[in-house]
Amino acid sequence: MKSLNPPLLVALNKLSFQRNIPTCFVKNISGVAYTFSRHGKVTDVLKKETQSYDEKKLGPSQVLVSFLASTIGTTDLAFIRGMGKLDGSSSIKLPWVAGLEGVAEVVATGNQVKSVGVGDRIIPFGFAIGAWREHGIFSESQVVPISKSVKLEYASLASGGPCVAYRLLEDFVHLSPGDVVIQNCGTGAVGLSVAQIGKAKGLRVISVIQERGNYGPTVERLKAWGNDIVVSHRYVGTFAMRRLLEDLPPPKLALNGAGGPTATELARLLGKGGTMITYGNASRKPFSIPTGIFTTNDISLRGFSMLSWLQSKSESDVKKMLQSVTQMMENDQLKFWIERKKLEELEVALQALSRPQQERRIVLVTKKGEMYLSG
Ligand SMILES: NC(=O)c1ccc[n+]([C@@H]2O[C@H](COP(=O)([O-])OP(=O)(O)OC[C@H]3O[C@@H](n4cnc5c(N)ncnc54)[C@H](OP(=O)(O)O)[C@@H]3O)[C@@H](O)[C@H]2O)c1
Repeated sequence: MKSLNPPLLVALNKLSFQRNIPTCFVKNISGVAYTFSRHGKVTDVLKKETQSYDEKKLGPSQVLVSFLASTIGTTDLAFIRGMGKLDGSSSIKLPWVAGLEGVAEVVATGNQVKSVGVGDRIIPFGFAIGAWREHGIFSESQVVPISKSVKLEYASLASGGPCVAYRLLEDFVHLSPGDVVIQNCGTGAVGLSVAQIGKAKGLRVISVIQERGNYGPTVERLKAWGNDIVVSHRYVGTFAMRRLLEDLPPPKLALNGAGGPTATELARLLGKGGTMITYGNASRKPFSIPTGIFTTNDISLRGFSMLSWLQSKSESDVKKMLQSVTQMMENDQLKFWIERKKLEELEVALQALSRPQQERRIVLVTKKGEMYLSG
C-alpha cells in the first residue's frame, strides 16, 4: 500500500485544511451511507448509517474513494423497490448501498494500483455501485479516471443515460449525418443524451414525450438541446405526424424506453429496413407490432441492456465510452438541467423527486463535493 509516515501525514492534512484543499491522505475514514436490507418503498427501507474504512485493509488492487456527487432518479428508486426487474438485481446480496451512478475522488490506493492515483477524479462503473455514500472501496478495474474539467454534476450522471445513449447510437445501425432517429422518453436521461449526442453526429432527432403541466417550455428546452422535432404521445399516432415527417428521410432507428402504445407508433413510423431498439419499459405496459409493418417494411426489433454489454466487453471498451461521453460534457456538447441537493439531506431530495421531474436531474452532493463546487 502506498502510504506516508504519520508525522508527514498530519502535516499535509493540516496544510490542505488551511488552504481549503480537500484532504487526500487517510488512515481511517468514515462517512454517511444509505443502505437497504430489504426491497420496498424507499422511505420505509432506506437506512442512514455510518460506514468506516481502514486504509490498512485495502487490497493490493483496490482503491479507496470519496464520493463527490451522485444522481437520484426513478431507476434508483425502482432498484430499491426491487421492481422493474432491473438487470442484475438478482446478483446483489442485501444489505446493499443505494445509488447507481456517481463520481468520486481517489483517497488511497493499494500497492499494485497503476492506472489511478490519490487525488484523481474517477467514475466507478458497473451494476449498483452504491453511490449514495461518502466513501467506498472499488477494484482498480471498476474505476475510470476522468478530467477534472468536466462539471462535477454532469460527471455524476455520465455512467447512466449518456452511456446508454452512446451505445444505442453506436452499436446497432450505421448512421450518417442527416439520418433520422425517433425516440420516446425524450425527457429521460437517455433521451436527453440521445438528442445531444445525435446532434453532435449530425443526426436529426425526433422525441415523443408525455404531455405534462409545463409541456410548452419543456418542448422548447428539448429543442434547444438537440431535438429537431418534439411531439406528444397523443400526437405521434395522428395523420398530422405523418405530414410533419414528409419532408424528412424516413426514420432509420427508433429507440424505445417507454413501451406501451407509443412504442407501436415508433415502429409504424420507421422506414423500410428500419430498426427499433427497446432499452426500457417506463410505462410498464407491453406493446404490439402490427404484422403489416414487418411484411411491408421489413423492420428489425432489437433489445439493449447495459449490464449485458458490460459483461461482454473489456475494460478498455468501457474506458473509451466513458471518456467519449465526458469529453462531450467538457466540450459543452452534453449538458443537463441540474438541481443540487445535499447527500446528507436525502429526504429533501426524495421530496423534490416526487414533484414532476420532466428533464430536470437531481444530483446529491457530498460535503467533499461541496468544497469543489464552492471553490
Ligand atoms: N437497458 C438498460 O441498460 C437501461 C439503462 C438505463 C435506463 N433504462 C430504462 O430506460 C427507461 C428510461 O431511462 P432513463 O434513464 O432515461 O429514465 P429517467 O431519466 O428516469 O426518465 C424516465 C423517462 O420515462 C418517461 N416515463 C415515465 N413514465 C412513463 C409512462 N407511463 N409512459 C411513457 N413514458 C414514461 C419519463 O417521462 P416524464 O419526464 O414525462 O415523466 C422520462 O422520459 C427506464 O425504464 C429505465 O429503467 C434501461
